[in-house]
Amino acid sequence: MRVLGIETSCDETGAAVVDDEGRVYSDVVASQFELHGPYGGVVPEIASRAHLERIGPVVARAVEEGGGLEAIDAVAVTQGPGLVGALLVGLSFGKALAWGRGLPFVGVDHLVAHLFAPFLQRKGLEKQAPELPFIALLASGGHTAIYEVWGIERIDLLGQTRDDAAGEAFDKAAKLLGLGYPGGPVIDRLAAQGDPLRFELPRPMMASLDFSFSGLKSALARHVEAHGVPEGKELCDLCASFQEAVVEVLVEKAIRACRLRRMRRLVLVGGVAANRGLRALAKRRAEALGIELFVPPPVSCTDNGAMVAYAGALLLKAGKSSGWDVAPYPRAPGTRRGKIRALALGGPKKSTLGGEGG
Ligand code: KG4
Ligand code: ZN
Repeated sequence: MRVLGIETSCDETGAAVVDDEGRVYSDVVASQFELHGPYGGVVPEIASRAHLERIGPVVARAVEEGGGLEAIDAVAVTQGPGLVGALLVGLSFGKALAWGRGLPFVGVDHLVAHLFAPFLQRKGLEKQAPELPFIALLASGGHTAIYEVWGIERIDLLGQTRDDAAGEAFDKAAKLLGLGYPGGPVIDRLAAQGDPLRFELPRPMMASLDFSFSGLKSALARHVEAHGVPEGKELCDLCASFQEAVVEVLVEKAIRACRLRRMRRLVLVGGVAANRGLRALAKRRAEALGIELFVPPPVSCTDNGAMVAYAGALLLKAGKSSGWDVAPYPRAPGTRRGKIRALALGGPKKSTLGGEGG
């Protein structure tokens, strides 16, 4: 079964053709960095309009490279969480296409799509897929959470951010330092030349599997207020110190989740999983503890249509298609909360599969 996947939840217009084994036939992504850069973050109205302009050409190219319309057996589209206006563009386009061709249609949760990205098999890239179940750290611009993943139909949430997502923290830090948008890749590059021990920054909420990055952002803001925006080596040192603080918290909690669940497979997904500091620290810690680490290539970590197509294929195989009334949602709806919350943290709390990142 070949599925056309469409992704428009934020600032990437993505379309791809993937089969139910995860083989990627085409994967086209049009980013909008240049449009949002001047604002230091994604502007929803600009994002929706750009998706509208790009969705046609992006899907046309993905279909053509994926074997043509005749080869497509189903359509999967990101339903949420994300920017509602942006989601509507992909959903409407995908529904119309599926309706016109008489194909099955399925709405896909963006976070679930990220979680299954390691199973994508891209030409020329080695596939490194874990066996189920596994622990996953999902760290992106809108979400930061830890899950225990048993399959497409059972995903338990173990912890999530209470304020900013990790990628958002990178983006806000970069804005403070005048480094442009998106901030993650720039800080990653500067941090590689810096000394992470130079500045002392907080590691918040270490006793929990939940995350909080707003205190770290404030600490950086206070530093900049007191000393100004540094330049040269000092800027690299500040980026390295900031990155180290984010990365240490992410890795420490992901490893703790593995321990608590006695799980020896850890997956890193989401845009922040492209971070070299995160990859390096996770590798060191996992190796030392005999945990197998799986990190998809950066092209599968950041938003793309291929992960949506594959998650859609899994859902359809499990007999789950959507009706034509399917509508976008900005935040993840409530799903199951893992027992670990009760075990480790003293009682269940309201929560969702996708977290409350929006
Ligand atoms: O998964 P993604 O493409 O979109 C969302 O679903 O949010 O993640 C985008 C986020 C941005 O915040 C970006 O700054 C961050 O991922 N990011 C990085 C790196 N590459 C992208 N953060 C740290 N280091 C990177 N190399
Ligand atoms: Zn994403």
